[in-house]
Parts: sequence; C-alpha cells; structure tokens
Amino acid sequence: MITFLFRNTERWNDTGATKLRLIPIGKILEGKYTNKTVTIRGWVYRKREGKDIIFILMRDATGVIQCTFRKDAEAWEEAEKATIESSATLTGTVKEDKRAPGGYEISGENLSIIGLAETFPIAKDKSEEFLRDVRHLWLRSRKMSLVMRVRDEVLWSVHECFRKKGFVEVSPPMFISSACEGGSTLFGLKYFDQDLFLTQSAQLYLEALIYSLEKVYCVAPSFRAEKSRTIRHLTEYWHVEPEQAFADVDDMMRLEEDLVSYVCRKVAQKCRKELVELGLDPEELARVKPPFPRVTYTEAVERLHKKGLRVKWGEDFGFDEERVLAEMFDKPVFVYGYPKQIKAFYCKTYPEKPDLAMSADLLVPRIGEITTGGSRVDDKDELIKRMKEFGLRPEDYEWYIDLRRYGTVPHAGFGLGVERLLAWMLKLENVMDAIPFPRTIRRFYP
Ligand code: 4AD
Ligand code: MG
Repeated sequence: MITFLFRNTERWNDTGATKLRLIPIGKILEGKYTNKTVTIRGWVYRKREGKDIIFILMRDATGVIQCTFRKDAEAWEEAEKATIESSATLTGTVKEDKRAPGGYEISGENLSIIGLAETFPIAKDKSEEFLRDVRHLWLRSRKMSLVMRVRDEVLWSVHECFRKKGFVEVSPPMFISSACEGGSTLFGLKYFDQDLFLTQSAQLYLEALIYSLEKVYCVAPSFRAEKSRTIRHLTEYWHVEPEQAFADVDDMMRLEEDLVSYVCRKVAQKCRKELVELGLDPEELARVKPPFPRVTYTEAVERLHKKGLRVKWGEDFGFDEERVLAEMFDKPVFVYGYPKQIKAFYCKTYPEKPDLAMSADLLVPRIGEITTGGSRVDDKDELIKRMKEFGLRPEDYEWYIDLRRYGTVPHAGFGLGVERLLAWMLKLENVMDAIPFPRTIRRFYP
C-alpha cells in the first residue's frame, strides 16, 4: 500500500516514478513550502462540502492544515468518500492564503484513504462524562494533544532539573508489603498466596538508596484508594519524588521552588505555541521564580480565621482552606511547621518545638496542595516510638528501621503530583484531564 512507502518523514521516497516528499504539517505552516508540491499523511479533522469544492482539514502530530479539492481534480471522488477521522495520504500544492486557518492551504491533487473511518462518535457539545467514556478517541482532540505535549515537556524538564543538580534516577518497586501513607488509601492485592499492596509513595525505598547515592529521585506511578471524588484526586497518579542525605525541610523547600520554577520556565519557553492555543499566557508561567513565600501552619490558621474560615489549630487543612490560602499569594506558597499528629509517622519534629513536624506543603490556586515533603526521623528509637503512636507494627518495617541502625544521617525528601502540577499550570478543571487514561473510584475504562 502507498502508505508504507512513506514511513519516514522529510525524506524522498525511493519508489521510482512519482518522487513525493512527505512533509510534517507543522513545517508547511512555517511557510517553507509555498508553491511547492508536498505530500502529507494524517487524519481528517474536519470536512465541509460545497457543490464544486470540498474543504478537508488534515491533522498530523505537528499541526492542522486546510486542503481543498475541486470538482475537476483527480482526487474528487476519494475526497467525497473521506469521513471524519479517516487516515489518508494527500498530495497537493501549498498556497499562502490569509483566509485559511494557519495562513496556508494545500490545493489537493491526490488523496489516498488509508483507513476509512466509521461515523466518529464525538461531535460538538458532548458532556465531559461522555468524553471520558471515549477517552481513547478524545485523546485525538486538539485540547488533549496540546495538554499531552506540555505534559511531556514537564516530565523532561523534571529529569533535566534533577540531573543538573546531581540527582540519580532510581526505580522503586510497585508491589509493597507495608504502608507509607496510612492504611486507609492502600490498594490490596493477592500476590500469589500473600496479601500485598500497590505503592502509595516510593519514599521509604528512596531512603534506602541515599546511603549509597546520597541524592536520588524517581518519577513513578503511585496508587491511592481514594474514595473522594474531587477535581484533584486520582487513584493512579504520577509521582515525582526526590530524597537527599544530609538535608532538611528548608533544603527541600529550596529544591521544590527551584524545580517548580524550572519546569514553568521550560514550558513557557518550549511550549509557547501550545500555551497560546490553550488560551494561556506564557509570561504568567515565566514569572514563577524563587523564592516562594513561606508561612507557618500557625500563621496560616490565623490568616484563615481572618477570612472567616473556622479551622481549629491542630486540624489538617482541606481543599477549601488550601485554596483560600493559595489565593492570598501571587506565587505558590509553602506552609510548614504542621502539628505532628496530622503528618506521617516518618516526619521529624523540630528539636525546639517537639509538637511541630519539619514538614512543608506547597499550595497553588485552584488545586491546593501539589507537594508534601520534609525531614525524616533519623533516630531508630524515635522512629519505633512514632510507629507505635500511629498504630503501626515496627516488625512490618524492620528493613526501614535498619536504615537507622547502620550509619543513619539526617535526610529529607518530598513528593510532587505530576497531574496536580500540570492542572495548575494549564488551569485545567480536573486532574483527570492531565493524564491520558485517568483512574478514579468510578473510572477505569478505557
Ligand atoms: O502528600 P503525599 O501523600 O506525600 C507522600 O506520599 C510522601 N511520601 C512524598 C514524599 O515525601 N516522598 O503525596 C505527595 C503528593 C501530593 O502533594 C499530591 O501532589 C500528590 O502526591 N497526590 C495525588 N495526586 C493525585 N491524586 C491523588 N490521589 C494524590 N495523592 C497525592
Ligand atoms: Mg500531602
């Protein structure tokens, strides 16, 4: 079939007679092929039929371009047949045309349908719910493909930032035998004849790796049996987690603001077109620079009281409190020094304030918390005591306690949710739109 002859883009095919050049649409829209004959390959995005002319918008991974077919063209019949989302190879001459979306148009000469599409189920005005039911098809939409491109840049820049700072990427296990973040959100599973869980966080394993590598990180899925249906909870999400030896909560806050700023700057630079098409201002992201403001938990409670919220000292903040706090600042804001009882068993406390955890959350508007991190308990006896206070059995964590037996050091780390970060950066209404195939309590198809 003709399609297989055009496997590589931007390369002359060697099939003899026709010598066609396969060009990415994005390159054509840059204006480099005006008045030249090109071949493109992609999918029918939109179609409009007149009496003597058919307009077909073709899309590939790099862009969308308008193509016209006149009644006297050889390809007229094939153009008539082409349905929305059919895949096709198309040859024609590029024309500059101010009226065409993107400023260029292809006057179509040849069209060869690769896969004729049945009636595409997605039309205008479909509900969010419906679009999630057909997510495997909705991923082709302009919005989703733009979001996925930005997601890719976010992940690349996360790796770049850590690498520049001398962190080593490591790969933690997904099957685990004891909880990191509390039993209520653990997914259990049968592992042969044992009961195991899916990981909630790589943290405990990263802690083991700092004893040889000192600065490590991973980007991996975490699983939470979240019953809450909110705009910021998934049951499977991607988790960026660094862990560092000889570091504390203040070092982590500095690392976090560097990382988040780095990612924002890179996306503002490299995804300018995507941001603009999504209706966003790249400058807004470019302005996210360190230092981020820091407020103590106690000060945060006072600020919330002044806004009329009735949170009591000692209680954890919910979605509402976090959003109200975040709106008070023009950059992401750290809240630190939480009461130790609302943080995890592994959180170290301030030597001079033993009731307060050396733990910080980073909050952003609309989403609230995007990171939690801080100093870890590094003393064996203290760790065992904390486990018992939290109702955990130290014998389930022997290997983790070993880390305090053999050359313990002060250390710290944090966890950043990729979908929450992206949802904030792109002003998405729900973290579900920041991941290709979202998983929530009710959604696991497709
Ligand atoms: O606050 P969490 O539970 O902290 C931890 O898991 C630590 N062990 C991380 C560490 O120190 N290495 O989760 C960290 C982040 C949250 O701030 C949030 O961004 C994200 O993970 N997150 C979720 N994202 C989407 N859906 C969920 N259900 C999430 N739960 C946590
Ligand atoms: Mg947290």
